[in-house]
Amino acid sequence: MALLDILIYPDQRLHKIAKPVEKVDERIKKLIEDMSETMYQAPGIGLAAPQVNVLERIIVVDISESKDSLLSMVNPEIVSSNGLAEHEEGCLSVPGVYAQVQRCENIRVRAQDREGNVFELDAKGMLGICIQHEIDHLDGKVFVDYLSHLKQARIRKKMQKALRLS
Ligand code: NI
Repeated sequence: MALLDILIYPDQRLHKIAKPVEKVDERIKKLIEDMSETMYQAPGIGLAAPQVNVLERIIVVDISESKDSLLSMVNPEIVSSNGLAEHEEGCLSVPGVYAQVQRCENIRVRAQDREGNVFELDAKGMLGICIQHEIDHLDGKVFVDYLSHLKQARIRKKMQKALRLS
């Protein structure tokens, strides 16, 4: 396994759209392992492949306290949703920034697991929010894109300053 470098906002590569995975093979399994290790080490509760500069539709999520409930999804798509929920979100690509984002309260997601088998999952609460946040990354969207232009400008400034200092 290997730790991967996480792209930091406002890196333009975070705004690219990821391509579907055609075949879940050993390369994809290895990538899922590396992404999981990178997420746990950060530490974070979710990571999408574009955040590690891989433009393929893969996400990993683990919202458990004990960090033993890894959910990996290849080609995830939301097939139905309802309700509205607003929670404070953060992102490994935007360290130190948290903001309220409005999302769907309940979602049903279809995806492939790391063996390539299709499954569906109903998610709500924190898990539902996290999955929506990660799928956004596959579409080139970062949570700060939902904020006002003024807030986005402030966050960009803060990130650029932090990058200069590091
Ligand atoms: Ni994120």
